[in-house]
Amino acid sequence: MDKFIIKGGNRLHGRVKISGAKNGALALMPATILAPGTYHLHNTPNLRDVWTMSRLMTELGAFCELNDNDLFIDTTNLNKTTAPYEHVKNMRASFYVLGPLLARFGEAKVSLPGGCAWGPRPVDLHIKGMQKLGADIKLENGYIIAKAEKLIGAKIHLDVSSVGATGNILMAATLAKGTTIISNAATEPEITALARMLVKMGAKINGIGTAILEIEGVDRLNPVDETSIPDRIEAATYLIAAAATGGAIELENVNPYHLTAVIAKLEECGCEINVNSDNIFITAKQPVKKAVDIKTAIYPGIPTDIQAQWTALMACKCEGNSKITDTVYTDRFKHIPELIRLGADIDIVDNSAFVKSSPDKTLVGAQVMASDLRAGAALIIAALSAEGTTEIHRIYHIDRGYEAIEKKLTNLGAYIKRVRTDLI
Ligand code: EPZ
Repeated sequence: MDKFIIKGGNRLHGRVKISGAKNGALALMPATILAPGTYHLHNTPNLRDVWTMSRLMTELGAFCELNDNDLFIDTTNLNKTTAPYEHVKNMRASFYVLGPLLARFGEAKVSLPGGCAWGPRPVDLHIKGMQKLGADIKLENGYIIAKAEKLIGAKIHLDVSSVGATGNILMAATLAKGTTIISNAATEPEITALARMLVKMGAKINGIGTAILEIEGVDRLNPVDETSIPDRIEAATYLIAAAATGGAIELENVNPYHLTAVIAKLEECGCEINVNSDNIFITAKQPVKKAVDIKTAIYPGIPTDIQAQWTALMACKCEGNSKITDTVYTDRFKHIPELIRLGADIDIVDNSAFVKSSPDKTLVGAQVMASDLRAGAALIIAALSAEGTTEIHRIYHIDRGYEAIEKKLTNLGAYIKRVRTDLI
């Protein structure tokens, strides 16, 4: 397994191109199951999670080929309806194939997703949604077995505004007979992008971008070409890294509109931020930042996927203490013990992290371990601002969601090297 060696203290400067959205691509890919044919998904990030989804779809009979950031998928010969445990256990988003398989073939057998570094991460809303659409659902040997002669439109209210459940139900509803209304739907940009692709395929969807989606089922959809939206979480991670190192960087190929909450919080910290249609310029005017509390929420609130990164930012060279609360995943704090190994002073109480800092509080390099994707990103941010050298182990977690991260950071002036430990 690889590790990163990072020497802290360099201020990030220069320009970084943001990749296509991981969580966007992971929704667009299963949507290609709905209509047999060939698709060209532009600006697809070259990431482990995309390879995992490609392997699953190939297992189902599709053809998938990723050339740089061009993903070609042919679902003409996709004819299997079982998503096996060995695939689904690697990535929860694999569960997204349930709705499309059920809609196209009238059946699906999908392994329940495995555990996560934090959780529980249930799928009850996905299952209830399919049942509302008329599917018969059984749970056998860790698999969801769904059958439906024909899905029938229904009114579905989500108790929790779940991104995954919204996407799964939305895809299934496009081929259902009659009208489906999903209320309390997720409005994350990745769901809006999925809805837009489905409309390009011939789906009839009203309320796109809002929490009430109305879908008029159609008999068939058609394959299309689509372009992934920029990855707002990758972008936020680089903005926070610039703030943590007292740097000044420009982000290209980004949608500032998707980052309004994060930009507001970074400005509260004392950063200067300017935007145009697809660039963001950030300057951390002072190495010492104002301590700023955050509370994560569904879009357009502060995303839970930047909570760990923000904690790393608050852990050093801040004027005071901060409180970081996660209302989406109340136990997403596996990064805290590793930040403490770097010298951070953090206590966890319920679903909040209380971070003590001061203008002369620095972190000191150490050996740490990534426990999940965003925890790994937080450790990189902490290591970039720490004194001395940090080794980050289990970086396969980071490779799931950050394309060419060491190259991008090196181009921004960071000292970061990837070392193959299995060769030692
Ligand atoms: C998506 O996960 C993202 N993943 C996650 O990003 C992100 O953290 C999450 O949305 C929240 O924004 C992808 O898009 C592939 P949810 P998802 O269903 O869909 C509860 C990353 O780092 N819930 O919106 O699995 C759940 O427990 C990843 O890129 C139910 O109760 O998240 C949680 O409290 C990590 N029942 C809340 O909803 C269900 O059936 C939000 O979960 C489903 C969810």
